[in-house]
Amino acid sequence: MSKKKRPQKIGILTAGGDCPGINAAIRGVGKTAIVKYGMEVIGLCDGFLGLINKEYITLTESSLSGILTLGGTILGTSREKPFKNNKGKKDISKPALMVEHYEQLGLDCLVCIGGNGTQKTAHLLSQEGLNVIGIPKTIDNDVWGTDITFGFDSAVNIATEAIDRLHSTANSHKRIMVIELMGHNAGWLALYSGVAGGGDVILIPEIQYNENIIKDYLLKRSRENKPYSIVVVAEGIKIPSKEKSAGNYIARRINQITGLDTRVTVLGYIQRGGTPSPMDRILASKFGATAANMIVDRDYGKMVSQKNGDITSVPLAEVAGKTRLVERNNTLLVRAKEMGTCFGI
Ligand code: F6P
Repeated sequence: MSKKKRPQKIGILTAGGDCPGINAAIRGVGKTAIVKYGMEVIGLCDGFLGLINKEYITLTESSLSGILTLGGTILGTSREKPFKNNKGKKDISKPALMVEHYEQLGLDCLVCIGGNGTQKTAHLLSQEGLNVIGIPKTIDNDVWGTDITFGFDSAVNIATEAIDRLHSTANSHKRIMVIELMGHNAGWLALYSGVAGGGDVILIPEIQYNENIIKDYLLKRSRENKPYSIVVVAEGIKIPSKEKSAGNYIARRINQITGLDTRVTVLGYIQRGGTPSPMDRILASKFGATAANMIVDRDYGKMVSQKNGDITSVPLAEVAGKTRLVERNNTLLVRAKEMGTCFGI
């Protein structure tokens, strides 16, 4: 038996854009650490800023009760990138402070809940000598090294409901309805909710669309007496640099090139808000509890992940700096194409 003392005190932080399920993950880590292992748990406030400024709250079993279903994050979040100064240049003055504060607080491990940017910073902190474990979250579902992130299922539900609701106005007014969804680099949300909501055209950042193909497709539907069409657009598709919104741009272009009456809806932050779906609560709880077990095993420098339905982990070194994009041979994409959905190609 190892004579090493079991890890006794851990810190949890949540960084990057919020999403449904973060509190369920905090609860999963915290309750397992407290109930199963008798650890002390603190929550650092506002992402990495909490460790820079040594701002934290103590998390107890009772303070973790009742947060499972809450949206957002009880710890607050920020997009602070501690390894960069305000000119975007590499700077290690803040990381040095973070290492000092980690030691002063007597932490045995730092759990970083976040998306790609957070996992990259988590990796850099582990290179500075901290014991770090990452937990992937984002509605974008684009974290490398995991098949799914929590937040995604809730966002797909919200976006699908929005698309469902557009069908009635589209049908009543015989219009083209364009809906812009989140997803700067990856089109997972547009692909999944587009297919679930019966989108006729789905445009994602990974596929360079051809306007003429969209035009021919929509005019053909109109000639075939299909009274309306739904166009689902990820915010990150390629548009001219002077344009501000992918949805607005595509809607305008469709109207110009087809002459069909077109309207646009930009769904925005509603996609990230509110209570997590049951699937996200379950995934976040599993990820959180697994992270606590990894701490006890001193399985540091890794991110919890799900692969082929199993909960596992991947080295942060493999995850850092990468984005998981929709590939051309993605099964859902291929099947949707076979059913006649237009991806602008
Ligand atoms: O959390 C990821 C994401 O939802 C992206 O899809 C979106 O572009 C981005 O966050 C915008 O968030 P914010 O305005 O908070 O930076």
